[in-house]
Amino acid sequence: MKFDYLAIGEEIDPEGYVLTTYSVKTDLPIEKAARAIAAEQSTGTWTDISTTSEVILKKLGAKVIEIEGGLVKIAYPLDDFDPEVGGIPQFLSVVAGNLFGLEDLKGVRLEDVGIPAAFAKNYPGPAFGIEGLRNVLERKDKPLIGTIVKPKIGLAPQRFADYVYEAGIGGLTNSKDDETLVDQDFCPLSERTSAVGDAIDRVFDEVGHRLIHAVNVSSPPDKILELAELAVANGAREIMVDVLTCGFDAVRVLREDPSIKVPIHVHRTMHGALTRNPEHGISMTVIAKLVRLCGGDALHIGTFGVGKMHGSALEDKLSHKALIEPFFGLKDVMPVCSGGVHPALVPDLIKLGGRDIQIQAGGGVSGHPKGVREGARAMCEAVDATVRGVSLVDYAKDHEALRIAIDKWGV
Ligand code: 3PG
Ligand code: 3PG
Ligand code: MG
Repeated sequence: MKFDYLAIGEEIDPEGYVLTTYSVKTDLPIEKAARAIAAEQSTGTWTDISTTSEVILKKLGAKVIEIEGGLVKIAYPLDDFDPEVGGIPQFLSVVAGNLFGLEDLKGVRLEDVGIPAAFAKNYPGPAFGIEGLRNVLERKDKPLIGTIVKPKIGLAPQRFADYVYEAGIGGLTNSKDDETLVDQDFCPLSERTSAVGDAIDRVFDEVGHRLIHAVNVSSPPDKILELAELAVANGAREIMVDVLTCGFDAVRVLREDPSIKVPIHVHRTMHGALTRNPEHGISMTVIAKLVRLCGGDALHIGTFGVGKMHGSALEDKLSHKALIEPFFGLKDVMPVCSGGVHPALVPDLIKLGGRDIQIQAGGGVSGHPKGVREGARAMCEAVDATVRGVSLVDYAKDHEALRIAIDKWGV
């Protein structure tokens, strides 16, 4: 049978194929490794088989169209996919499935996917995006500044809401549950949500400042809508989902539910298992594109190499780009910089990410020696200084909250 998965240099129609880029580490000749991936992920297996046909191979066989060093581009015919029923689970089983376990590869990382319009058309994209979030918050231009209520588990609903109130009075625009808090007995979701709603109303009544809090509804597929509807019924103005532990379609079903008309904040907890190893796994760019298709309004992208979490400035930059570049006319997604953030990191984050980012600090707010309100204020002062082009050290001379933060965490 005359079919070879190697089709180097063949022109392919980007509308007819999913175009993938893998970085491959192997002791085999790279062509052999690339062919093994294309075969395994489309119509082949480890040996010749008697049950296939030239028709099947020609129609559905993946093609290795480019090899440059260890970078391999493989095009999968659109017919290999099942956008309407199998959706993203089936898509991932093709482009990011068995290949990760192939014995012949020492490492393989899915760096990027080019998605054809025929696949993307099944997805809604964000309902709010950057502009929508800015409208909700009545914040035209400056970065959004958020917090994560800390400790991440343990506070009872009223103490939790008091934290949010203090954060709002201190000037933050956003607050959120942490990724491990859902509906535990010490802080049931419905009570927490309504206490937080009252706190947010108090902030608005007292100082006219708008703040939203994302309630984490991460849960199994048979529960997530119910939980999100409960949150919204109790006054939630934003919900949060841990996309990798719940699955990409958790974002999509929340986005498409007509009774949940609030922004969706997407946390990427567990992403390090996929993204951290530069020689094996899945890039954050791929995750960002899928979150955008499914309708996340804000997504954690890291801190461009500053902050507590391991991160690469390049990886964060690429996923940032995936959230904001033109993409089937879908709205953009607010990039969230979170993890080990404190006021002194703000100038770098704005320099690297621009103003359309949400800067978020948990410990960097609640760890302020004068408490949450002053911690929030210090973050706001750091943003104000930066957008005015004033150094934090100069600004701190007559801004006490910032000065105290810098004394604790340095600058
Ligand atoms: C956290 O929950 O501590 C952070 O958001 C994790 O940061 P990362 O998403 O950048 O890894
Ligand atoms: C998050 O979920 O984004 C974090 O919990 C960040 O927490 P930190 O600011 O204390 O690192
Ligand atoms: Mg967290």
